[in-house]
Amino acid sequence: MSFLVLGIESSCDETAAAVVENGNNTLSNVVSSQVDIHKEFGGVVPELASRKHIETIIPIIKKSLKDAKVNLQDINGIAATAGPGLIGSLMVGHSTAKAISYSSEIPFIGINHLEAHLCAIFLEHEIPFPFIGLIVSGGHTSLYLVNSHIDYEMVGKTRDDAAGEAFDKGAKVLGLSYPGGVAVDQLSKEGNRKAINFPRPFLKNGPIDFSFSGLKTSLVNYLHKNPGYDDSQLSDICASYQEAIVESLVLKTLNAAKKYNVKSVVIAGGVACNSRLREYSEEKIKNENINLYIPSPKYCTDNAAMIAALGYYKLKSGDTSEFTTTPYSTSRPKIKRGSGIIKDSTVYTS
Ligand code: KG4
Ligand code: ZN
Repeated sequence: MSFLVLGIESSCDETAAAVVENGNNTLSNVVSSQVDIHKEFGGVVPELASRKHIETIIPIIKKSLKDAKVNLQDINGIAATAGPGLIGSLMVGHSTAKAISYSSEIPFIGINHLEAHLCAIFLEHEIPFPFIGLIVSGGHTSLYLVNSHIDYEMVGKTRDDAAGEAFDKGAKVLGLSYPGGVAVDQLSKEGNRKAINFPRPFLKNGPIDFSFSGLKTSLVNYLHKNPGYDDSQLSDICASYQEAIVESLVLKTLNAAKKYNVKSVVIAGGVACNSRLREYSEEKIKNENINLYIPSPKYCTDNAAMIAALGYYKLKSGDTSEFTTTPYSTSRPKIKRGSGIIKDSTVYTS
């Protein structure tokens, strides 16, 4: 039986919509990035982001339906990011999804963006539970023990900056363009990652928490002491800085996998696009006989297919506060207009 979910994502600077069948078959995946708008400011400007989402949201949803070769009437559930994220941006996708749900009587579910990042892996792989999931995005760095498609337990997190923030802030200090993670990744390919020994907090026998703000300070101090670097030294700085972030992420994740005695690890979120993180985790985690799964880059950065995937599993489970009126059904539920199908009022905060 085919169960189609329309996913909608607008938590930061991407407006995205996707149609996913049965939680793993992506029929369409449309992403409109605002990166060119925010580039000149060196970071996301929330007011501009919300306004752009308002302009883009309907055309993107229409395109996702068209690309999937389906009509709205074919959709069985609508899932939209409810948080965490920029509130003005979230409200555009979330309210649009609710309006469509209300007018078309299609069940709605609000989705936690971070859990959806981990759920992205199910678009490409089946993984036995439980597993440890590392989410590395622009604003979050957290470790989860994932017990089922809908059961996510946070077991570690950053105590200050996120890994993506460390990349972006470090890049800004080095005068590189936004988003900084991509620029640091590129330049690092030419650099020596052992050139500078940047700190790795809590690495030995510490908790399975992360800390990156000291690393950023250490970079600033290094640049004060060593002004006037050439291109080759810039590559060395990037490679060494990146190595400190990557090593912390991978070794802490490995500690968590051992602590919870799991046989699989998933790394997800925008920073999971990082080439050195992909390479180093492959080396370290697989050496321990633990299976490693990282989504393809298009499912690591913000997208709506991951929102639709988690929406499918949540709708199917029928045990969420947002979806109490109608249990999972493979045919469209018959609901009278105004019968209260939209129960979601959950807005996650970071
Ligand atoms: O998950 P994401 O697309 O958006 C959020 O939910 O935040 O993650 C964005 C983050 C940014 O900090 C960006 O610099 C980082 O992912 N990023 C990278 C790479 N590609 C994106 N960081 C390091 N290396 C990359 N190749
Ligand atoms: Zn994200």
